[in-house]
Amino acid sequence: MLILGIESSCDETGIALYDTEKGLVGHKLYSQIAVHADYGGVVPELASRDHVRKTIPLISELLTECDLTKQDIEGIAFTAGPGLVGALMVGACIGRSMAYGLGIPAVEVHHMEGHLLAPMLEDERPEFPFIALLVSGGHTQLVEVQGIGQYKILGESIDDAAGEAFDKTAKLLGLDYPDGPMLAKLAEHGTPGVFKFPRPMTDRPGLDFSFSGLKTAAAVAIRGAGIHLSGSKSDATELPENIDQLKADIAHAFQQAVVDTIAIKCRRAVEQTGIKTLVIAGGVSANTELREKLAQLMAKQRGNVFYPRHEFCTDNGAMIAFAGAQRILSQGDQNLKVKAKPRWSI
Ligand code: KG4
Ligand code: ZN
Repeated sequence: MLILGIESSCDETGIALYDTEKGLVGHKLYSQIAVHADYGGVVPELASRDHVRKTIPLISELLTECDLTKQDIEGIAFTAGPGLVGALMVGACIGRSMAYGLGIPAVEVHHMEGHLLAPMLEDERPEFPFIALLVSGGHTQLVEVQGIGQYKILGESIDDAAGEAFDKTAKLLGLDYPDGPMLAKLAEHGTPGVFKFPRPMTDRPGLDFSFSGLKTAAAVAIRGAGIHLSGSKSDATELPENIDQLKADIAHAFQQAVVDTIAIKCRRAVEQTGIKTLVIAGGVSANTELREKLAQLMAKQRGNVFYPRHEFCTDNGAMIAFAGAQRILSQGDQNLKVKAKPRWSI
């Protein structure tokens, strides 16, 4: 069965074709980074308009590249939430309407289920059960996964998501959007040990996270180091000479604190459940330090760790086509409702 996947929850238009027998047939991704760059973050209205502009042309290009026509599509999966409501509505309307026109089933996909199942697009796939660490701009969750659709949240952030903390701290450091990857890049030049930030909520039992304090710790360090980035240009004369190094040191300490905190919670989740397969997904799973730390952790635990390939860590259509294919196979068509669920628990 050939499934078309449409992802439009935030600032990426992702389109993919997934064949339930042959696997991923092809995918296309259009990033709106240039559209939002001048504003320092995603502008929801501009995101929706750009999805409107791009979704159908991308579907058409992908079909042509794969030597297929729309009549070959046998089911459609679209992200129904969580995300920006206007952006979600674009994918939902186009997906549902195409399915209605073609007389084929369409299903809503939970964006985080897409991320969670993304490692299953690889040749070396995790087997159930596994622990999934979902780390994106909107979510930080540890989920026990017994099978498709069998998800138990073991712990989650009580405030900022890990990606959100990366983004906010990057802004404090004066970095440009897209913030998180920029901070990770800067951290590569940081000297370990110059700044030391807390590992929040690791001194008490449980699998919940809290990252807003880390952002505050970074803000205090930035002020303490005399880095006033939001002031007028004349402030520049007052900046410390080694400002670039100080910023890199702060970025390094921040990233280390996030990575250590996540690793401590992952170890607990593995020990608590006895499940020795860890899957890491969501935008922050692109972070090299995090990947290395968790690989070391799972080697020590004599377990395995799985990640999606780099391009499927952040938002993409392939994960939605794959998750939707599982739903269509098990549930068939849902109904003709066009729904967007900006908040939706997995
Ligand atoms: O999954 P995703 O593309 O979108 C959401 O569903 O939120 O994740 C985006 C998040 C952003 O917060 C971004 O800063 C973060 O993932 N991110 C990273 C890296 N690449 C993306 N954070 C840290 N290190 C990275 N290399
Ligand atoms: Zn995402």
